[in-house]
Amino acid sequence: MKLLKLFAAFLFLFSFALAPSTFAQKKAHKYVGTKKCGMCHRSKKRGGQYQIWKASAHAKAYKTLQTKEADKISMKQDGKKAVDNPKCLKCHATGYNVAKSLLTKSFKIEDGVQCETCHGPGSDYKKMSVMKNKKKAIAAGLKMYADPGNELCVKCHNPESPFYKKFNFEKFWAKIKHPLPKK
Ligand code: HEC
Ligand code: HEC
Ligand code: HEC
Ligand code: HEC
Repeated sequence: MKLLKLFAAFLFLFSFALAPSTFAQKKAHKYVGTKKCGMCHRSKKRGGQYQIWKASAHAKAYKTLQTKEADKISMKQDGKKAVDNPKCLKCHATGYNVAKSLLTKSFKIEDGVQCETCHGPGSDYKKMSVMKNKKKAIAAGLKMYADPGNELCVKCHNPESPFYKKFNFEKFWAKIKHPLPKK
């Protein structure tokens, strides 16, 4: 009897230990890369978000870390190249700090600050049937923002950046906005 109780207690504890990890596994969406998003978000009819992003500074953010200028600061500050420095990668790249298993073949770190940096890893929401339904897409990991200036941009556009320029949401947003066409 005592043994049975002990066993029950063990099972009880074990189920708790297991639950969060199963949950986390279910929630771990993968990064698919900008080309995948571009498959549908390239067309003029849908607003050409891919081209707008590609022409923006965000698409070049990783390449900026591959410059001499970047290495100079990074070496001085932390004794390593900028592309190897998490303190630079955190604002100039995506997916550098997640398990390799979460990066699909089509994901490219060279794409810098990309769709999924802001909208969340897309493996589970990129399907047409899910994307067409905003609610479903959000449930599958799509991130949207009610107040992007304060919720999103200032995570990177802040004085921690060695080249910080005063951030003005209206002005900066005008340069990167990529809305769906009005219906
Ligand atoms: C198979 C086609 C397809 C792919 C791939 C795709 N999308 Fe979409 N996306 C759509 C459609 C369709 C809509 C709904 C709007 C519309 O009808 O044009 C949409 C809407 C969105 C919206 C706006 C949601 C809303 O309703 O306000 C965002 C943000 C978005 N997609 C981001 C992405 C990102 C990021 C990726 C890549 C990870 C991606 N999409 C991949 C087809 C796609
Ligand atoms: C993950 C970090 C990150 C987030 C989030 C982010 N940015 Fe950026 N942004 C950067 C980096 C890094 C650069 C510099 C890229 C380069 O030139 O190499 C940049 C550059 C820019 C530029 C060009 C600035 C210039 O000097 O011409 C604009 C405009 C901009 N971002 C707007 C925004 C807006 C608006 C938001 C929020 C909707 C935002 N960014 C969110 C990292 C970020
Ligand atoms: C807190 C986010 C953040 C961090 C951390 C960060 N950067 Fe940046 N970086 C930016 C943003 C945003 C810009 C674009 C300038 C702006 O609008 O503020 C930028 C611009 C740059 C530029 C282009 C400067 C120019 O205008 O010519 C270089 C080079 C650069 N960063 C290198 C680095 C290096 C090297 C590190 C690490 C030591 C680093 N950054 C860390 C956000 C960041
Ligand atoms: C720097 C962050 C950032 C990047 C990079 C980015 N987006 Fe967005 N995107 C936003 C924000 C902020 C909005 C405004 C809507 C919201 O979230 O409330 C938005 C809006 C959209 C919308 C329109 C929603 C609507 O209702 O009009 C689509 C579609 C979209 N993004 C797709 C993409 C795709 C595809 C890429 C890559 C090619 C991309 N985004 C890259 C931040 C970003």
